[in-house]
Amino acid sequence: MKFIHHSMLKQAAEFQECLRNLKRIVALVGAGLSASSGLPVFRGSQGLWKNFNMIDLATPDAFYIDPGLVWQFYAWRRHVALQAQPNAGHKALAALSHDKSREFLTITQNVDGLLARAGHRQRQLYEIHGSLFELRCTSFTCTHREKNYEDPLTEALAQEEEFDREADMDTGKLPQFTPTKELLGEELPLCPVCGTLMRPGVVWFGESLPLRALDGIDNFLESGPVDLILVIGTSGTVYPANGYVERVRQLGGKVAIFNTDIEAEVLAGQVADTWGFQGDAAVTLPEMLQLDGP
Ligand code: OAD
Repeated sequence: MKFIHHSMLKQAAEFQECLRNLKRIVALVGAGLSASSGLPVFRGSQGLWKNFNMIDLATPDAFYIDPGLVWQFYAWRRHVALQAQPNAGHKALAALSHDKSREFLTITQNVDGLLARAGHRQRQLYEIHGSLFELRCTSFTCTHREKNYEDPLTEALAQEEEFDREADMDTGKLPQFTPTKELLGEELPLCPVCGTLMRPGVVWFGESLPLRALDGIDNFLESGPVDLILVIGTSGTVYPANGYVERVRQLGGKVAIFNTDIEAEVLAGQVADTWGFQGDAAVTLPEMLQLDGP
């Protein structure tokens, strides 16, 4: 234990010393960054995919079979995300995006919009799994898409069970999704242009990622050495997001992991060019990115 503690202090000092000279930085973000804002992660004992099968809620087939169920899931997630506030971790990344002395971009798998709300520069923010607040028409011939922050989206999608966010945060209770009703097509969001059913603008399992985002990220990775990737609150189980860590390593960059759960070898400083900061990313990230500290 003592050894781990010593190693963490050593890693922290080394990271901060190094960070001063690192000019091109990428952040890869997952659900753990929003955990302390009260949003549930996907995997693990408290994760969303513990009680629900992602095949039933987050695939094109699921939407085709039961759009009412899938819309209830996304309407609930929109509601919970709108109730949540960006935390100090989101703000630390937002601040880095405004640091003129570096080139920085964030690749986020999160669809909750919290990084944008924390003030992260939009041009440097790649939401590769889309956004809960974008809607797209499902008609093959209609190209309508819109940004939409209305809550509820339709009367039928209003949340029946209101939760007390402040109280729930105090007790550590996470919001739960419970599908309550069968919904008809006309009770769901319809395209204002052609009247066809709209869908959430997120990327589902089995779908390809937005090409423009992938291109933007590739351009950054190919236009010079990348010094560092910050890997924040992600289990790294979903491709291609998890591939970026290896790509940065191959480009000679270092890796800094911010997670509540980190492998012992990383914590002990035994993995080359890799730092590990164990704990809530909303605490460790602002601490580590603080450049004018001691
Ligand atoms: P996961 O739920 O797979 O992983 C969350 C990670 O965050 C885990 O490694 C936790 O240990 C860590 N964690 C939890 N709380 C934390 C905290 N307070 N501070 C730091 N770390 C914390 O979520 P993602 O990796 O984001 O995709 O999942 C990736 C993708 O799989 C998601 O975008 C989603 C999901 O299925 C789609 O829906 C397409």
